[in-house]
Amino acid sequence: MAIKHFFIMGGGVMSCRIGMILGRKGYKLTVYDINPEALKNWRQQFDAIGSVMKSNFGMTEEELERALGNIALTENFEDVIKADLVIEAVVENMEVKRRVMEQIEEKVGEDTIIVTNTSSLAPSLIAANMKHKERFCAWHFNSPNTYTEIMGIPETSPEVVKTLRELSISAGEVPIVMLKEKTRYLANNCLQVWFMEALDLIIDGYGTYEDLDRSWMLAHKHDRGPFAIMDFCGLDLRLAQAQNEYQKCRDQGQDASVWKKRIDFLRGMVDKGELGVKSGKGFYTYPNPAYEDPKWLRKELLEDNGEF
Ligand SMILES: NC(=O)c1ccc[n+]([C@@H]2O[C@H](COP(=O)([O-])OP(=O)(O)OC[C@H]3O[C@@H](n4cnc5c(N)ncnc54)[C@H](O)[C@@H]3O)[C@@H](O)[C@H]2O)c1
Repeated sequence: MAIKHFFIMGGGVMSCRIGMILGRKGYKLTVYDINPEALKNWRQQFDAIGSVMKSNFGMTEEELERALGNIALTENFEDVIKADLVIEAVVENMEVKRRVMEQIEEKVGEDTIIVTNTSSLAPSLIAANMKHKERFCAWHFNSPNTYTEIMGIPETSPEVVKTLRELSISAGEVPIVMLKEKTRYLANNCLQVWFMEALDLIIDGYGTYEDLDRSWMLAHKHDRGPFAIMDFCGLDLRLAQAQNEYQKCRDQGQDASVWKKRIDFLRGMVDKGELGVKSGKGFYTYPNPAYEDPKWLRKELLEDNGEF
């Protein structure tokens, strides 16, 4: 099936990042958000993310301009009718996502593919109340990393997986097709462990977030450490995920105290508006976060030489 028109449900960080990936390749996208404020602030958010994509990830001004030219914003949910493929990118909350799936199915034809971009929730539970589960799949964008994960639920049609695989390739993204469903996909399962370990280390006072990131960057020759990556993803998203995990532990009768500690810490930042790149402040301040300055990584050596 030829997919020309995408509809993104949720005008947050991911609408910008997915919009950049697909829009720069000429795909048309419409972005809808239930909150008009999100649409009002959308361009500012796009520019903030675009500036990091340019300085750190090689996206060009032309690509960003082309993407912008292919993205329309709407406050009218009825516009979903025009879509060949709907991408759900609303808040990481099971009830909200389930409701959104039902809303989308009510409006679109049976052939329209519907995907979730969830990072950490089980797609088969998100789709639990859908009538046509064969057209549903998880299609997880990892921007700025240039790969997508495609993860079907047992009912997903192989044609849908094939279409998403082809679309990923045409958008310049490496498609990683999961063999079976697992929350958090492949790489993100490992990433989650780093993030939580990193948070615990600073909450428990073993070191600073800068030093953890610096040692990580030096150890692995990465351009960013776990805290910089958390800033890029959004600390409100990290908080929502921690809240989901807390609830999961509670529901299973397990000790949830470690999640409570992480939630309290993250809530402290989110309540101050420190959401990461999208609000201009998270662990670092944006634009021009400290970790982009090559001197910052080795500052002690440069200080010793009088160069810092
Ligand atoms: N941020 C990341 O790095 C990242 C990466 C991959 C996947 N994801 C996933 O993508 C999804 C969106 O994440 P985000 O970072 O863009 O979140 P975000 O908080 O930046 O944006 C979510 C948007 O959804 C809107 N929304 C809430 N309920 C809605 C509804 N019923 N209908 C329409 N819009 C609604 C909110 O108003 C908000 O603007 C989440 O599931 C997240 O796990 C995020």
